[in-house]
Amino acid sequence: MKNITIIGTGYVGLVTGVGLSEFGNNVICADINDDKILKLNAGKIPIYEPGLEEIIKRNVQNNRLFFSSDISSSIKKSEVIIIAVGTPQSDSGDADLQYVYSVVKAIKENLNDYKVICTKSTVPIGTGKKITKILKTNFKENSDFNYVSNPEFLREGSAVKDFLWPDRIIIGTSSLIAFETMCDVYRPLYINKSPISHTSVETAEMIKYASNSFLALKISYINEIANVCELVGADVHDVANAMGKDGRISDKFLHPGPGFGGSCFPKDLESLSAIAIEHGFQMNTLKAAIKANKKQKIQMCNKLESLFDGELKNKEIAVLGLAFKANTDDIRESSSIDMINFILSKGGFIRAYDPIANDAMSKLFSNISYFQDVYAAIKNADALVIMTEWNEFRSLDLMRIRKEMNGKFILDTRNIVNMKELSSLGFVYDNVGRIKI
Ligand code: NAD
Ligand code: UGA
Repeated sequence: MKNITIIGTGYVGLVTGVGLSEFGNNVICADINDDKILKLNAGKIPIYEPGLEEIIKRNVQNNRLFFSSDISSSIKKSEVIIIAVGTPQSDSGDADLQYVYSVVKAIKENLNDYKVICTKSTVPIGTGKKITKILKTNFKENSDFNYVSNPEFLREGSAVKDFLWPDRIIIGTSSLIAFETMCDVYRPLYINKSPISHTSVETAEMIKYASNSFLALKISYINEIANVCELVGADVHDVANAMGKDGRISDKFLHPGPGFGGSCFPKDLESLSAIAIEHGFQMNTLKAAIKANKKQKIQMCNKLESLFDGELKNKEIAVLGLAFKANTDDIRESSSIDMINFILSKGGFIRAYDPIANDAMSKLFSNISYFQDVYAAIKNADALVIMTEWNEFRSLDLMRIRKEMNGKFILDTRNIVNMKELSSLGFVYDNVGRIKI
């Protein structure tokens, strides 16, 4: 059991803090956002993540989980400090490390004893070395530290499960003491022989980028296969299922869709590409995946326009799903944003609905209409576009929709609506790479 401070209480920091307290550690989740900390201390959860609220409550009640906006004292109180702030994409494509370095500065100022300094944020390869150098410059007496890179692989929407039952834990450090400390932090998993790998800092940093990039490549690949399926009369679901039965390929992340979004794949591909170029190497596969993804988003907009024979002006389009994937309120880099911008640019009107992400999207688009349920959104709409694979969109009352919509057009960018039913009800529809019925 360790005393741990996580700095940055966002999607990753909060889940990590809560998960580590569930493992029996004493955890302070620290953030400079006072509002967030006030909310958490009042028992309110600032993000939507299934299963999170219950586990927060349990660990707060057990006095193992605390929230604080006092970064200095939080650092002083703990032996393990985990950096989990954002690393967004800068204009040049590189990761913007200003938040990471501002935390490093705070850590340096508050090093009062031996500490393990651990980065969980996704950072360019070589960042660990730079952080170590900063911390070692004008080193204070009576303070010592070891550095660890411990990248995170959780997915939004299944973050709690992913954190508590991870496929692997990567601990990148040159210090045996720090490695053993981190094994203690993850003790319940360590006892269960969960695969903990000990690597160098640089290898750990690279494992994170290589993993995200590979998953993104897989999605871009199946999206392109889907596009070709449409041209040659093949069905992408049958293709993906059959491909997935080959253990070397696996059926995961072979679901075609409107292009990948989220706060990580787009920026991490750009960042790895920028790192490679910095070292004199161009990663052609990454460039191709990024390009294919941008094209996929445009392809969805073109599909919608084609349903109307090119005339979207003054059309009312119901957009179902705003989050970048199901089970999250996160809209960062969501393909819905591209779709909304496209419809607006063509003079159409948006009737938007998402079970959770209406509020988040309204901060980006205040000029579109938001509805509280599917049937209010589709009322008198000329077309319906499904952008996110929320479960409730898998079981729509299509008969009712056919009656209450003004038009008969449906674009299903997630391939979740039954094509037979759509046909029998007289809808004109399109999806991604399927043989239409
Ligand atoms: P986020 O934007 O949700 O949260 C970042 C938090 O850091 C915010 O609450 C912000 O207020 C806080 N912060 C910023 N500067 C601070 C400072 N100086 N001191 C204290 N707090 C500060 O970000 P996120 O989605 O949780 O991502 C964090 C990192 O984890 C990124 O590097 C990301 O690439 C990586 N990651 C994210 C996911 C994911 O699913 N979101 C998964 C794996 C890895
Ligand atoms: C992704 C990775 O899956 C995590 O392992 C990683 O920790 C995280 O990025 C990160 O570094 O932030 P996340 O972005 O939360 O997780 O969500 P995913 O489930 O990977 O989905 C990303 C995007 O790909 C979504 O837009 C999703 O709709 C799309 N996707 C995913 C597909 O289009 N097809 C698929 O088969 C899978």
